[in-house]
This record gives sequence, C-alpha cells and structure tokens, in this order.
Amino acid sequence: MGDLARLLLRSTLLGLLLTSAPGALGANPGLVARITDKGLEYAAREGLLALQRKLQDIKLPEFSGDFRIKHIGRGNYEFHSLQINACELLGATLSPVPGHGLSLAISNSYVRVQGAWKVRKSFLRLKNSFELHVNGITIAVNLLLGSEPSGRATVTTSSCSSHIRDVEVDINGDLGWLLSLFHNQIENKLRRVLEKEICERIKEAVTSDLQPYLQTLPVTAEIDSFVGIDYSLMEPPRATARTLEVMFKGEIFHLSHRSPVDVLVPAMSLPETHSQMVYFAISDYVFNTASMVYHKLGYANFSITDDMIPSDSHIRLTTKSFRAIVPRIAKLYPNMNLELQGSVVSAPVLTLSPENLYMAPQMEIEAFVVLPSSVRELVFRLGVATNVSATLTFNTSKITGSLKPEKLQVELRESKVGGFNVELLEALLNYYLLNNLYPKVNEKLAHGLPLPLLRHIQLHDLALQIHQNFLFLGANIQYMRT
Ligand SMILES: *[C@@H]1O[C@H](CO)[C@@H](O)[C@H](O)[C@H]1NC(C)=O
Ligand SMILES: *[C@@H]1O[C@H](CO)[C@@H](O)[C@H](O)[C@H]1NC(C)=O
Ligand SMILES: *[C@@H]1O[C@H](CO)[C@@H](O)[C@H](O)[C@H]1NC(C)=O
Repeated sequence: MGDLARLLLRSTLLGLLLTSAPGALGANPGLVARITDKGLEYAAREGLLALQRKLQDIKLPEFSGDFRIKHIGRGNYEFHSLQINACELLGATLSPVPGHGLSLAISNSYVRVQGAWKVRKSFLRLKNSFELHVNGITIAVNLLLGSEPSGRATVTTSSCSSHIRDVEVDINGDLGWLLSLFHNQIENKLRRVLEKEICERIKEAVTSDLQPYLQTLPVTAEIDSFVGIDYSLMEPPRATARTLEVMFKGEIFHLSHRSPVDVLVPAMSLPETHSQMVYFAISDYVFNTASMVYHKLGYANFSITDDMIPSDSHIRLTTKSFRAIVPRIAKLYPNMNLELQGSVVSAPVLTLSPENLYMAPQMEIEAFVVLPSSVRELVFRLGVATNVSATLTFNTSKITGSLKPEKLQVELRESKVGGFNVELLEALLNYYLLNNLYPKVNEKLAHGLPLPLLRHIQLHDLALQIHQNFLFLGANIQYMRT
C-alpha cells in the first residue's frame, strides 16, 4: 500500500472515529441565550447612539483648487474648516443573517456640516461661511460573528457600504457661481470621502468598541470563592431567521481543582416564544454539575453532637437518653456521648418538571459512641431518604434558590446494639436538618448563579417556565448607561 493510500485510509478511519466518538456526549450546551428580534431592536437603538457619537468625530478634508468661470474669470477657492456639527442616525434595523451573523441597516439619516470658504481672484478676496445638509444617508453593514478557542465571542465587519442621496449647500454670501462651483468641483469628492469615512468609522467601532464589549461576556463567572461556572461559547453565535442563539457550556466546576464530568447534557428544545427580548434556557446539567462539585467538596457531610441539641429536647445524644429506644446501648456503653455522622450518598440530581423542582438525596448516618478514650465506636447505621423541594428567585442578574426539605424516612441499616424503633430519631434528625444543614446549604445557594450577561446589562420583567429538563427564563434587558 502506498504512503498516500495509507494516509487516506488513516485519515478516513480517524474521521469515522471522531464523528462517532463520545464527543457527542458534550455536544449540547448547558445554557442557551436567545436574543429575539425585540432584543436586537433594543440593541440597535443603543448601538446607534454610540455610533452617532463616533460619526460626529469624522474629520473632513479641505477642498481647494483653481477655477475659471465665464463672466467671472480665473481665481482660486478654498473650502476649509469643515466640521460635522450634527449627525442623526435614524431607522436602524439589526437583523440576523442565518449562517453568518447580523446585518445592520441604517436609513434616512443625515449629517450637518459647517465650514468656511475663501475665494481669491486677482485683487478680490472674499470669504464667508457655509453649511451643508448631507441627506438620505443609508448604511448597510454585515457583521460576522464567531468564537475564539478560548470561548470568547468575536465580531468583525464582513462588509460595509454607505450611500448619500444628496448634499445641499447653503452659502452665506448669495453667490450663485460659487454654489455651482461647489456642485461641480466639490460635491462628489465630499460625498466619496464621507461615504468612505462612515464605513471606516464603523469598522473601527466594531473592532475597538463592539468586540471588546462582546468580550465582557464572562467566560468564567465565580459563584463563590471555590466554585465557578464555565460560560465559554461552544460555537459561534447562531443566527436563525428571527433570533440569535448563543450556546454556552454551562458547566459548574471547582475553581482550583477542575475535574472532568461525565454527566450527559440533555438536548433542549426551546419553545418558540419571542415576546421578550432575551430568553435563557438553563439545562439541568448546570444544576447537576453544581451538585457534583458541592458533593465532592463535602458540603453535605455533617456531624451532630449532643451540644448541638437544644436544651429542652427530651432526647439527647447520650447513651442514657437512648436507653428507652435502644436498651442495650446503655448497658454496653454506660454514660457516654453519641455522635452522628452523616453524608449524602451520591450527588443528588435535580428533577425539573413543569409541576415542581425537587431532589431526593439519599443520606447515610453513622452513629458512634464516644468511648472514654475518645475513640469512636460504630453502633448503628441509618439510611435516610429525604425529599427536598427547591424554589427559585431572580433579580436583575442572578438566579438564586432555596431548598425546603419535605419529608424524611429513616431506616435502620446495621446495628451492633440490636433492633429498635428508628422513628423516634426522626424528630431529632428533622430538627437538625431544618435548623443546621439546610440553612447552611441555603446560605450557599443565596450566592446565586450569575447569568452570562454583557457589562451594564440588567434583566427586567422576568418570567420563568419549567420544562422537562431545563428552566426557561424570559426577560427584557436594559443597558445601564454610566
Ligand atoms: C463525606 O463523608 C463520606 C462518608 O463518611 C466520606 O466517604 C467522604 O470522603 C466525605 N467527603 C468529604 C469531602 O469529606
Ligand atoms: C418528591 O416530591 C416530589 C414533589 O412533591 C414528588 O413528585 C416525588 O415523587 C417525590 N419523591 C420521593 C422520592 O418521594
Ligand atoms: C442579586 O442577588 C445576588 C445574590 O443574592 C446579590 O449578591 C446581588 O447584589 C443582587 N443584585 C441586585 C441588583 O439586587
């Protein structure tokens, strides 16, 4: 077999492997942001104000030359100190271009220019000011959206054209011949310069303002000092007929010890609603990776000792108090303290369904007696099934949640002190979970999940829907001008 044939075979095999590899596992985004036509309309309005300021800074050249006009004769002219003193961009539309990015169309805009003119004709010197009305400016810009390997969004100008319908001159001095001189010698040049400068300024604004602004989308957002969420883009923003969709990885990870997760990212089929400016589809993957990370960090490990039991409790964590429930314990270990050590068996999975949000963490609790030598000896082991409902709240930039345990089922798994009625322990465990463990977890959850937002963007009019495996959050946005 020739080298080429071998190479071809190898690359074909490699291709097959790659296309069927478990890479498909991580192919779905954990979070999708959809910007609707309403959102794009808002973005166009805000963007236009910024662009208007850019265009006002356009420097216009001087125009000078010689003339020779019937009845007037020869001379030379100079139109100088041209300065844009008003620029009004109107009627912008920003629309998605499927497979490419966005197109910005500005129509029917105008620019006002002020300047001065000088004419010299042998002994004669004239000078005065003039004003230009540059009308019917249309601009068409195509923006190519992409993503860097680092997961940042990129934007470049793939084309720009601008057209000026007419230029009206208002010359102080009422000199008809100077007017026609302007129309004949200057108008076209000025129009070309202005059309070119408009596109130059737009390209410059895209590179030096729009792209850095897009890159204020966080690639990693910190949730607390240990845990963050990966908001890198999985592919360039996808333009469809009416929307722009941005696919984020949406994986929660330990900031200093990131380890790979093998949690499946479910495919989400977003409802076709467009009444708000943006929508966020947040997959259960986000919550389940959070659950895994916090579980690994041991947030759900706890221990209960007698000093944590309220003084008015009729059951204490002492062998004496347990005598009524487990007679043998007091006999074998007279006057000793007990200690309960609990852990959640595996990272609990959040179940999202249109009716509710809940998880059912399975706990295991080991009970030890603390011997006079301080050595702990296992006396029994309990299995605890809990059911926890979650409620979510939002503010302008974050989702926060809180958990409420619903019920608890205790089962004796192993005992070195004989069988006993574990139901009596339920009250104690409930007390601990309600007053210690859940408040601690809820304090963590109150840090909230920051949504992937551009700088100075705040969310309003939030509306939440719960779907089979994702949350669907609609909102209007507001750019907070500084
Ligand atoms: C939590 O407790 C379990 C059971 O005792 C233990 O296996 C696990 O290592 C603990 N996790 C951490 C992070 O301490
Ligand atoms: C937990 O509660 C939810 C909602 O109340 C319910 O649908 C689910 O079946 C419960 N699961 C368990 C294990 O009790
Ligand atoms: C939103 O909630 C988070 C977490 O509770 C809080 O840190 C943040 O200050 C809140 N933001 C606003 C604008 O209220």
